[in-house]
Amino acid sequence: MEPVRVALLGCGVVGSEVARLLREQHDDLAARVGAPLELVGIAVRRPERERPGVDPSLLTADAEDLVRRADVVVEVVGGIEPVRSLLHEAFRHGAGVVTANKMLLAEHGPELFEAARAADVDLYYEAAVAGAIPLIRPLRESLAGDRVRRFLGIVNGTTNYVLDQMDTTGAGFADAVERAQALGYAEADPTADVEGYDAASKAAILASLAFHTRVPGDAVHREGITGVTAADVAAAARLGCVVKLLAIGERVPAGADGGPEGVTVRVHPAFVPRSHPLAGVRGPFNAVFVEAEAAGELMFYGPGAGGTPTAGAVLGDVVAVARHRVHGGRGPGESAYADLPALPMSRV
Ligand code: HSE
Repeated sequence: MEPVRVALLGCGVVGSEVARLLREQHDDLAARVGAPLELVGIAVRRPERERPGVDPSLLTADAEDLVRRADVVVEVVGGIEPVRSLLHEAFRHGAGVVTANKMLLAEHGPELFEAARAADVDLYYEAAVAGAIPLIRPLRESLAGDRVRRFLGIVNGTTNYVLDQMDTTGAGFADAVERAQALGYAEADPTADVEGYDAASKAAILASLAFHTRVPGDAVHREGITGVTAADVAAAARLGCVVKLLAIGERVPAGADGGPEGVTVRVHPAFVPRSHPLAGVRGPFNAVFVEAEAAGELMFYGPGAGGTPTAGAVLGDVVAVARHRVHGGRGPGESAYADLPALPMSRV
């Protein structure tokens, strides 16, 4: 059986774990896909740098060439450019794409899904929201026949860890952020975490899936945790609450803000009563509640950040895309995203 050629863009906390799992689980993955997954190269900015556990002969600085040699491109670099151009190049060459890049999807999702559809290839992104938690597929597929009313969640592990440390150990904000970085939870620039940009991108993706509409990242009301002080955390404790950074998406009924039915999506710190299940979500863990008309209340919970859990979610997507290449077929309805109506965004 012809191998499925996998190109990896990025070899940081997540990328190095993807490379390790591809190597260590080679035979199991081959059995699940129906063909071996061959890692043909890893694009990095500085290939001369030593990376423990990574075969140096795989490293290259020529990401464009690598993309052209692949059947499946896995992107774990983050940011917008050059990644956006590289993914378009992948589609032009007929490669499927797996990405963990929430910011790229929140800002350029429709354009990328349209390009994937035009090329008749897959674009999967389970790891872009809430790390290891299966959330994208359930929203997109399992709940496709239901009507989601609201979601409410903790979708950034770094800020949850920071707030948790402040609450339980009395750590200062800066110390807690440094610990989160050392543990590999934070983005390269933790501003994206602590100012709520990361959570806002994830909220935009969740809202787009939950409400079958297009919600760009900049339409999400955003407030991070840099203004949260030890005094706020102590005040919350006196009231029997914890401070959590919540991502909230809700349908707004027609007439509520004087207009037609719309949606509101926001990210901000909130006092959460200690009796509420979200209050018990600790450290880098994430959790998302979904309220749907038929299903009722659902809760998704698990590791939301960190190299190995996120790499596991990435590999699940790689298996799905590789199976389609081997056995034919496409993923369900990704590209329909490009055709969806934009529901009015509401401040209610
Ligand atoms: N920095 C992100 C977080 C990583 O802390 O949740 C996962 O997206």
